[in-house]
Amino acid sequence: MTDPALTLNEFTAALGSFEAEAGPAVAAATEADALEAVRAKYLGRAHGWLKDLSAKLGQLPKADRAAAGAAFNEVRLRVEATLDARRVALAPVRDAGALADPTMPARETWPGGVHPVTQVIDEMIEIFRELGFTVALGPEAESPWYNFGSLNFPADHPAMDLHDTLYLSDDLVLRTHTSPVQVRTLQAYPPPIRVLIPGNVHRRDPFDASHAPTFAQVEGLVVDEGISFADLKATLTHFANRFFGATKTRFRPSYFPFTEPSAEMDVLCGVCRGSGCGVCKQSGWIEILGSGLVHPAVLESAGVDSEKYTGWAFGMGPARTALARHGIPDIRLLYDSDVRFLGQFAK
Ligand code: DAH
Repeated sequence: MTDPALTLNEFTAALGSFEAEAGPAVAAATEADALEAVRAKYLGRAHGWLKDLSAKLGQLPKADRAAAGAAFNEVRLRVEATLDARRVALAPVRDAGALADPTMPARETWPGGVHPVTQVIDEMIEIFRELGFTVALGPEAESPWYNFGSLNFPADHPAMDLHDTLYLSDDLVLRTHTSPVQVRTLQAYPPPIRVLIPGNVHRRDPFDASHAPTFAQVEGLVVDEGISFADLKATLTHFANRFFGATKTRFRPSYFPFTEPSAEMDVLCGVCRGSGCGVCKQSGWIEILGSGLVHPAVLESAGVDSEKYTGWAFGMGPARTALARHGIPDIRLLYDSDVRFLGQFAK
C-alpha cells in the first residue's frame, strides 16, 4: 500500500485558500462578463480550481475522504451562492447599459387606434358640427311607442314582429333604430332643432357578410319654420362631398313610415368611381342613407305644431359607410376585434 499523496491538513488548507481567494474575486467583478470569467476560473468544470480540489480528494487517506468531501461541498455551495448573489446584483447594471445603447432594437409596442366605425361617427359629428348641429343621445332599451308608434308605424307593421325586434318585455324593446330619439329630442327642446344622434341599435338579424345584430346608426334631425326638401338635399350632398371627397350623389324615392316624401341617397362607388365592381355589385353606386321630410304625424306625436314647423331627417349606418370607404368585403371583419385587420385603419 503506497502512502497517500496528501494529508487532510493540506487538503483543508487548500480548500481555505480557495475560498479566501474566490470570495473577493466574485465581489470585485463589476460587470457580468468579468463575473463569468471569475466563475470559469474558480468553479469551471473543465479546469477550474474546484476541479483540481475534487481531484485531490482522491489522494487523501480513505478514512479522511468522507469528512473532506463534506467540507469540500460546503465550501463549493458557499462560493456558488456568493456568485449567484453577485449575478443578481449586477443584472440592473447590465440593463441600464442596454438602455444607454441607442443601436438596440426597440421593444415592440401596440399603440391604441380609433376603430374605423368610430372614425366615421367622429368625422360625421365634426362635419355636421360645422353646420350648427349638436349631439343628442337616447336609451337603447326603448318603449314600443317611441320605437314604433310615435314614428307613425301602423299598429300591424311587420317590423314590430318578434321575428325582427328583440323584446325585453311586453313594453320594452331594444331599439331597432335611432329614430325614436327624434321624438325624445323634440319633446325636450323646442324648435329650431339641428341634432345628430349616434348610437347602437339591435335587430333579430343573422350575422352575415352584410348584417350584424347590433350595429351603430347615426340619425340627423332638423326642424324649423320653412324647412324644405331643398335643405335636405343640399345638406346631405355637402356632407357626402366633405366625407368622401368630391363625389357624385343621387337620390332615389323610398318609403319610411316617419318621412314623407322619403329618399335614399347613393354616392359614387369609391372603389371603381362608377364603372362597376364587386363592392358596389356592379351598379357604380353605394347606398349611404335613408332620409325624408319628417312626417307631420311624427311632429304631432312629439307635441310640435306641424302647421308651423317642418323638418327633414336622415339615418345612416357608419359600419356600412366604413365598408364603402375602405372597400371592405365583409361587415364581420369590423366586429372581430382582430388587431391585424383593425390596425390597418388605426389613426
Ligand atoms: N330609421 C331608419 C332605419 O333604421 C333609417 C332612417 C330612414 C332614418 C329615413 C331617418 C330617415 O331619419 O329619415 O332603417
